[in-house]
Amino acid sequence: MSLLEAQNISKSFGGIRALDACSISVEPGTITGLIGPNGSGKTTMFNIMTGYEQIDSGQVRFRERTITNSSPKKVFRLGIGRTFQLTRIFPRMTVMENMHVAAQRNDFKGLISRWSSTHEQTRALELLNFVGLAELKDLLAGSLSFGQKKLLEFAFVLIADPQVILLDEPAGGINPTMVNYLADRISTLNKRGVTFLVVEHNMEFVMGLCHKVIVMHRGTKIAEGLPSEVSDNPAVLEAYLGD
Ligand SMILES: Nc1ncnc2c1ncn2[C@@H]1O[C@H](COP(=O)(O)OP(=O)(O)OP(=O)(O)O)[C@@H](O)[C@H]1O
Ligand SMILES: [Mg+2]
Repeated sequence: MSLLEAQNISKSFGGIRALDACSISVEPGTITGLIGPNGSGKTTMFNIMTGYEQIDSGQVRFRERTITNSSPKKVFRLGIGRTFQLTRIFPRMTVMENMHVAAQRNDFKGLISRWSSTHEQTRALELLNFVGLAELKDLLAGSLSFGQKKLLEFAFVLIADPQVILLDEPAGGINPTMVNYLADRISTLNKRGVTFLVVEHNMEFVMGLCHKVIVMHRGTKIAEGLPSEVSDNPAVLEAYLGD
C-alpha cells in the first residue's frame, strides 16, 4: 500500500516536457529518496504533489484518495509538509519570530487556533530544540548560516505535525557535520512514524538514509529499488554520465 502516490503524471512548460507519464509511490513509514540529474523533473514532481503546480494529466493520491490539483493549503492541511530547494525564511526577524509567523500563516490557521500563546511558544521552542537552534532563538534569521536556515525551515514544517514530509535538497550547500545532524533528525522522526520523500544530490546522504530510492531521468522514472540496487544499475550510471 502506498501513502502518497503520483500516477502517470505529465507536465509541460511551453515546449519543455518536465514530466512524462511519471509514476512514483511512497510507502508509509519509509524514507524514500528521489534522485536524478539536474532538470530531470524532481522539483516539478514535488510541486505537483503539494499543489504548487497543476498537472496536464495523471493523478496524485494520498491515503487512497485523490488530491490531484488541490491547493497547497489543502494539501498541507491533509498532512503533507514540504521544504523548498531555496529556503523561505524572514531574514529580518529573529528565529523565534520566524516560528511565530510560520505558526500564524494561513496554512496553519485552524490547525493551531487552539493554541494559547504560551503553548505556541513552548511548542516552538521544543521544535527549535529538536533541530538544534534553541540557543539561537533571539538571533536574526538572516544571520544564520545556510545550513541553519534550512534547519529553521525544517522546524516550520514540523509545526503542523505532518504525516509525510517532502524535502527538496536538504543537504545541498551545508557542511558535513550539519548533513549528519540533519540525517539523524530525519531518522529520529521516521522512527516516530513520519514518512519522508527526499530529493538530494548528496549520494552518501541518500544511500545512508533511504530505504528505497527512485531515479528520474528526463521526466520519467528509470529505476527504483534498494540503495545498493540503484547504485549498481547501469541505466542510472548512464543517466548521470550522459548529462
Ligand atoms: N516554471 C517553469 N517554467 C518553465 N520550465 C520549467 C519550470 N519549472 C521547471 N521547468 C523545467 O522543467 C524541467 C524539470 O525541472 P525541475 O526543476 O523539476 O528539475 P530537477 O530535477 O528538480 O532539477 P535540479 O536537480 O536541478 O533541481 C527543466 O527542464 C526545467 O527547466
Ligand atoms: Mg530541483
